[in-house]
Amino acid sequence: MIPIPKSDSKTSESKKSPEPQIEFFPEEPRYSFNDLILPDSVKDQILDVADYAENSKIVFETWNFQSVFKQSKRVGINLYGAPGTGKTMAAHAIAKHLGRKILAVNYADIESKYVGETPKNIRKAFEAAKSTNSILFFDEADAILSKRVTNMTSATDVSVNQTRSVMLMVMNDYQDFVIFATNFIENFDPAFMRRISSHIEFPLPDLKCRRQLWEHYIPKEMPNDIDAVEIATKYEGISGSDISNAILMAAFKAARRRESIVRKELVFESIEATIASRRSNQGLKLVEEGSEVSS
Ligand SMILES: Nc1ncnc2c1ncn2[C@@H]1O[C@H](COP(=O)(O)OP(=O)(O)O)[C@@H](O)[C@H]1O
Ligand SMILES: [Mg+2]
Repeated sequence: MIPIPKSDSKTSESKKSPEPQIEFFPEEPRYSFNDLILPDSVKDQILDVADYAENSKIVFETWNFQSVFKQSKRVGINLYGAPGTGKTMAAHAIAKHLGRKILAVNYADIESKYVGETPKNIRKAFEAAKSTNSILFFDEADAILSKRVTNMTSATDVSVNQTRSVMLMVMNDYQDFVIFATNFIENFDPAFMRRISSHIEFPLPDLKCRRQLWEHYIPKEMPNDIDAVEIATKYEGISGSDISNAILMAAFKAARRRESIVRKELVFESIEATIASRRSNQGLKLVEEGSEVSS
């Protein structure tokens, strides 16, 4: 989904100007389960939920079980795990599996600095999904699903709490399946826990998945001396996203140097650069957290 501000984006800089309206458009799912490399157990869990969602529409809506079963349709799903493990891809794959479009909403896109606008945007997203019969997907939903802030000190906290309350209310009335993806939730709000029936963890790829990922992302047309088993064994603790990026970076390097083949050393270099930059980011984060404690 690409939220399109109706008015000129420049006007949003000034608080006096009217708030640009966000509109939501569903899109064709960009991935299918064939594109996703995950342990079978994780794929099976996702398919179970997707099939339940599909059958739930038939049972509750078409056969009108909703007239007698009032509150049994908790078909929310939360895909959680480290960044770059395929959660966004999986949301698209689920929509594709269900033969429906996806309406993806990123929390950052709907968050508004205008008090009261974010909850309005949430309602709008639900309405748009309903009227277009698309699967609603809240990506990067960490802020929405984590525990409500109790000692509110800033306007942001008040606004996030407000957003959550609206989200819970709208979800109560919503009859369809909603997908959430989150990278990290320390304190999951119990109210959401009750409404979201399945939580599926996306692990970092194990050796078998890493091998499949390396094989998948090396195009047959690219001349190379990469051994998928060797590289999968050599580097662990990396994500699918790290793997696809490393290959692409190495390919560009080789192309720029007009090499006749993409040598594996180039891929090693790029994966090592990724690992090193993540280490230094984590180091920074630890320093920041430490300074917060001491202040
Ligand atoms: N499980 C996976 N299978 C195949 N490709 C993956 C997988 N995980 C990540 N990727 C690659 O990394 C990119 C980012 O994945 P994404 O689904 O956005 O991760 P997340 O939403 O978990 O941060 C994908 O476009 C794909 O190239
Ligand atoms: Mg994502």
